[in-house]
Amino acid sequence: ARSPTGCPLSAHAAAFDPFDKPYQTDPAAALRWARQQEPVFYAPKLGYWVVSRYADVKAVFRDNITFSPRNALEKITPVSQESLDVLASYDYAMNRTLVNEDEPAHMERRRALMEHFIPENLAGREEKIRRMTREKVDAFIDRGEADLVEEMLWEIPLTVALDFLGVPEDDMARLRDFSVAHTVNTWGRPTPEQQVEVAHAVGRFWQFAGEVLERMRADSDGPGWMHYAIRKNAEAPEVVTDSYLHSMMMAIIVAAHETTALASANALKVLLEDRAVWRRLCGDPSLIPNAVEECLRLVGSVVAWRREATRDTEIGGVAIPKGGKLLIVQASANHDPYHFENGDALDIWRDNAVDHLTFGYGSHQCMGKNIARMEMRIFVEEFTRRLPHMRLAAQDFTYLPNTSFRGPDHLMVQWDPAENPERRDP
Ligand code: HEM
Repeated sequence: ARSPTGCPLSAHAAAFDPFDKPYQTDPAAALRWARQQEPVFYAPKLGYWVVSRYADVKAVFRDNITFSPRNALEKITPVSQESLDVLASYDYAMNRTLVNEDEPAHMERRRALMEHFIPENLAGREEKIRRMTREKVDAFIDRGEADLVEEMLWEIPLTVALDFLGVPEDDMARLRDFSVAHTVNTWGRPTPEQQVEVAHAVGRFWQFAGEVLERMRADSDGPGWMHYAIRKNAEAPEVVTDSYLHSMMMAIIVAAHETTALASANALKVLLEDRAVWRRLCGDPSLIPNAVEECLRLVGSVVAWRREATRDTEIGGVAIPKGGKLLIVQASANHDPYHFENGDALDIWRDNAVDHLTFGYGSHQCMGKNIARMEMRIFVEEFTRRLPHMRLAAQDFTYLPNTSFRGPDHLMVQWDPAENPERRDP
């Protein structure tokens, strides 16, 4: 077997399949061989060039002209005609949103929509996020056990996302199911039957997003980013178009909540696994912000992203043909020992943790990164203060099989309520 440029494939490259167990279990470990021996390789089972080293992944992110993000949300598993028909029956017409848009349209829109994301406009959200977190913890603190994913980690990021967007909080459970369907649809390998099921869910999500948008249009002074975008649409319909609003509505719900929920679950899991670290955080909350950054590096929730070469080019000395599709694996880059000393280890004092690529890099870098960081910091602050004796319960962790969004489906924790600091020392 040969790559599209005619080079012979190594046995590792020929065998690589991100849906196999090694990558699904630990994407960074699954690509250790690549970082060491063949940092850029063609994976015939996927039809993508896989990029595994920090410097190369960053270089690809940095040049969004040579490496277009236009395939970022393409379905990684080719869709059946039947599921396309299902989607058409819902008038599904998902268009490009910021994340997969080329220049110059992307930058113009990014600038037009940036204002809500700057730190000064986020500080006001902290109190509300903390209050929500406290209420969730109140509900289970005397019980002695909880599934943190089920009982708060998906719901708070979703509520924060809707609040940020100014979208009424109707049907949270439905939105969560929609988002999971969107993940499977984009980065999963559904069977033909699952594809049809997922197509229905995505179609319903599309219609729901349209309905919400129509309701929001009626309230032209409404709060939040989506209302702001609706006003931009009225002012500059050629920059923020109608179709764009509808697509954005759907895309942002997924972008804002699932990524943060999964990152929070990954972070709490890895911090609770290391008792010494957990105790240090309980004793000194000023360590929490860098610990959160380190968790985003070590166990980030977006483990791989995609780009497409717009011309013949090269990455790390490997020729990539025009049209070549790239799987750029942030999880692998974030463990690269050339950039992160002892990169497989959790080090909450690491001084370059913030260099991780979990939020991407360059002109498309995540606009919500500071909201996500804030939520994660508050979760860790509240748990270390109120439940310092919390432990992971014995459990088998399961993950939704896909290439890009990673975090446990459940996170069971336990503690002795008699030991709760607020009981002993009210
Ligand atoms: C883009 C990750 C949370 C909004 C991205 C990208 C990644 C990412 C990898 C693509 C970056 C690139 O192509 O260089 C994450 C992670 C999150 C998170 C890991 C949580 C831990 C959020 C939140 C919001 C958000 C909370 C909104 C409130 C966006 C937007 C873009 C984006 C609007 C598109 C930016 C552009 O293309 O210009 N995110 N994200 N994200 N994210 Fe996030």
